[in-house]
Amino acid sequence: MADLQKFIEELRAKVSIVDVVGAKVKLIRKGREYQACCPFHNEKTPSFTVNEAKGFYHCFGCGAHGDIVKFEMEANGLPFLEAIKKLADKAGLEMPKLSHEKSAQAEERKNLYEIMEMAVQYFERCLRLPEGRHGLEYFYHRGFDDAILSKFRLGYAPANNGLKAWLASKGVSEHEMMELGLAAMSSREGSNRVFDFFRDRVIIPIFDKANRPIAFGGRVMNDGQPKYLNSPETPIFNKRHVLYNLNNAREKGYEAKNIIVCEGYMDVIALSKYGFEYAVAPLGTALTEDQIAEAWKVCNEPTLCFDGDGAGIKAAIRSVDRALPILKPGYSLKYVFLPDKQDPDEFLKDKGHDAFAEYLQNTMPLVDLLWKKNTENVPAATPEQKALIEKNIFEEVAKIADEQVKGYYRQAMKERVYNELGRGAWQQSYAKNKNFTSRNGKRNGLDGGVKVEVVRPKTSLDELVVKFILSAMLYYPELVGEYEEKMSMFAMPAPEWQKLFEAMTAVYVDAEEEGGLTSDDFCEKLKQQGMAKNLAALWELKMFRLQKPLLNVLRQEIETKMLEVQVRQLDGEIKECLNKLSNAESFSEDDYNYYQNLKKERQALIESQNIQD
Ligand code: UTP
Ligand code: MN
Repeated sequence: MADLQKFIEELRAKVSIVDVVGAKVKLIRKGREYQACCPFHNEKTPSFTVNEAKGFYHCFGCGAHGDIVKFEMEANGLPFLEAIKKLADKAGLEMPKLSHEKSAQAEERKNLYEIMEMAVQYFERCLRLPEGRHGLEYFYHRGFDDAILSKFRLGYAPANNGLKAWLASKGVSEHEMMELGLAAMSSREGSNRVFDFFRDRVIIPIFDKANRPIAFGGRVMNDGQPKYLNSPETPIFNKRHVLYNLNNAREKGYEAKNIIVCEGYMDVIALSKYGFEYAVAPLGTALTEDQIAEAWKVCNEPTLCFDGDGAGIKAAIRSVDRALPILKPGYSLKYVFLPDKQDPDEFLKDKGHDAFAEYLQNTMPLVDLLWKKNTENVPAATPEQKALIEKNIFEEVAKIADEQVKGYYRQAMKERVYNELGRGAWQQSYAKNKNFTSRNGKRNGLDGGVKVEVVRPKTSLDELVVKFILSAMLYYPELVGEYEEKMSMFAMPAPEWQKLFEAMTAVYVDAEEEGGLTSDDFCEKLKQQGMAKNLAALWELKMFRLQKPLLNVLRQEIETKMLEVQVRQLDGEIKECLNKLSNAESFSEDDYNYYQNLKKERQALIESQNIQD
């Protein structure tokens, strides 16, 4: 047995697991690991990983796990000894002579999950023993009753290497204990004593989606450091893939159409106690793409809950960076920032279920956080500073891989830039003073205040003007680039024009990357996009029939027409305002200021275009 074990170790050292697995499935390198679609179960997205340094493969989908020998056996159907023979040939090594009995023993290896389950039970039991008394009291003191203890299978790890002794008595080898992070070798030089990894800590077991134990968190019961000790990475535990409590939260979240992602396991447990059973947490690291993808399997817009302090806001911003590249239609994140530097556990103890439920209603969408990230505490007084903000924002938007989502983000950001940095900014500050409520209703900002947005509707372009501008763009595609941004400030008179303009923008942007396009190409490509009907409506316009107009003339015309529309809208508003002011009963200072501001805007608009009134 020992001989065979040694020989297998030698094979593991000589034969690359990437070669062995790669001969069967196509592997793609991802960081330190390789990935593939699992050969042991049917799947479309890869959850099968191969780790060369550690010499094993693991599937996060079906739990298939093993080394080169096991792979030859299970993927290629070879009996144990033949698998070893094949690998020996590959390594150019001679097979050792073995009795049949010995080889049978070698195959009897406990499933790693079974060993972890034994550890969970051991820790649970210890919590009820005299030596675990202070652990039990710690949990009670935190407000966790017996129902919570058994739901989350909380436990206690004594300081006497009891787990190691107990597992050994059940036939688990030290090698397996270390492989699973349950035991560790003393770091003192020359010593090879093996210890229990968790000593005198309360234990929070971590389960995978299939409810199998895969790791533990252990918390000290005083102010010792580190506060939490987590299982190291093991063949069955990769903390970047796992969300704590997803095993319980999945179904509840599906029903509630929500999932709360908070910062720590104690928060998750406290939330459950107060009836929010659809909470999860990453394991001491910032949220990863994999974890966001997991949460999206439960609902379209997971609620990320952060402490309202600086660290919480930083963590929220990191999650924005993670999420942008993987956003897809219908899927996003929303944010809640708790007040007074509280975490959910503290908030619930302090204010209770209803206050938390109400707080959960007040979420901030990802798009707002992206704006905040780029504008809060950033100077925006000079044109250069404003330009820098705009540049940074659009660089971030460019990271969105999904074209549709990216398009809408671009549009939303353009509007914001206009409203808050550009010409619309004064309206914003006016609206703030006047304490308008926002279009989106009340919303909880990082500062806890109510965010105010411009309440005036977009100016609508009339049909003739739209037709004129779009036709001009057909003649000179570069006009799309020049006026794309300005156009987004207006509302279109009918959806088919909006559609055509969006298609034009998309075609133009694509072609731009490949070096521009001619007017004819432009029409052709738009027809391919299904815009033939929308284009036909433009041909009715006779203005271009005779000869091709000059680019500069068209530019001038577009500017003038847009301006006319804006001025007309303002004049309407000014008139309305005057009517109100002339009625002595309803006269108010605010309305008068508003009137003054409208006049100012009209003046600014006209001056900006150098056009006589
Ligand atoms: P916190 O420090 O916010 O702790 O860590 P907490 O969740 O409020 O816990 P209590 O209420 O003090 O017991 C949040 C998460 O960060 C990880 C853990 O996953 C924890 O749940 N963490 C924290 C560690 O991994 N190690 C540490 O030393 C501290
Ligand atoms: Mn806490």
